Amino acid sequence: MKQALEQIKQAAIEQLENCTDLKALEELKIKYLGKKGELTAILKQMGKLSKEERPVIGQLANEVRATIEEEVKTRTEQLQQKALEEQLKSEKIDVTMPGQTFELGKKHPLTIVMDEVKQIFLGMGFDVVDGPEVELDYYNFEALNIPKDHPARDTQDTFYINDNVLLRTQTSPMQIRTMEQRKPPIRIIAPGRVYRSDALDATHSPVFHQIEGMVVDKNVTMADLKGTLELFIKSLYGEDSVIRLRPHHFPFTEPSAEIDVMCYNCHGKGCRLCKGEGWIEILGAGMIHPKVLSVCGIDPEEYSGFAFGIGLERIVMRRFAIDDIRLFFENDKRFLDQF
Ligand code: DAH
Repeated sequence: MKQALEQIKQAAIEQLENCTDLKALEELKIKYLGKKGELTAILKQMGKLSKEERPVIGQLANEVRATIEEEVKTRTEQLQQKALEEQLKSEKIDVTMPGQTFELGKKHPLTIVMDEVKQIFLGMGFDVVDGPEVELDYYNFEALNIPKDHPARDTQDTFYINDNVLLRTQTSPMQIRTMEQRKPPIRIIAPGRVYRSDALDATHSPVFHQIEGMVVDKNVTMADLKGTLELFIKSLYGEDSVIRLRPHHFPFTEPSAEIDVMCYNCHGKGCRLCKGEGWIEILGAGMIHPKVLSVCGIDPEEYSGFAFGIGLERIVMRRFAIDDIRLFFENDKRFLDQF
């Protein structure tokens, strides 16, 4: 028995020393020290021994177990260390390699100015509302006092989904949608994309942006319209800006006006920038037509209001001296990087 124990010790140590991976090591541990292991098998036979032999063999068996356990422990540590070193080697990062750069995006010039316009109106107590670009004929034309045979439809030809559904030609339908949902006092702006089937050139695009504005309350007058827009223009272009209201016609406002800003380049004298006019047209506006108020269930005897529609592209082109509207929509990084 003593011999058997010595043999187990020898074999175990030899195999442990030759063992090169942790999984095999675990198997060896079980083979020698486990419940069904070789050492246990020997110990089970202890009963057969004489009283004198028993403590001697017992002590030896304990020594063998201790030695093997010690060896397993040492070997485990060695192999773990080796595994760690290999892992570190394989995961090594060369910090001198050029890194990956991530380019930060920036705001589109239209967004820069749109945000500014929103801030100005928020400061005057307006809410910003959002509406659909795919719109019903009713909201885009009919309810705005532009029936099917109205000539205004010719200048606002658009893309039709079917007879009743189209891409909106203006943000004005948001006047109707808002009045249907809110009761006066109402003070909103509705910015967004609009569409017209215009041929693409330096000043026309089949998609562009408008900012609709509307105020409905008791005793709202043309003076409120002028004051509001004057404040807006001065916030946008500076205190010394001058505006003028020029009579115009829109089916959904009465009276209506187009609003021009005095050319900042020539101060009204006329130059290339304003095409000799001295003034630059930037928005349409007027007092909301009584018919339009009525259609939305608002009594024109009790309430009045004004509305306006600003073309965003024109303002942005002026601001940044951009001479071609197509640049906004081509997504050329060389252009967009400049803002
Ligand atoms: N929707 C008009 C257009 O596209 C602009 C406009 C004019 C809007 C007068 C208004 C307004 O709200 O009162 O040309």
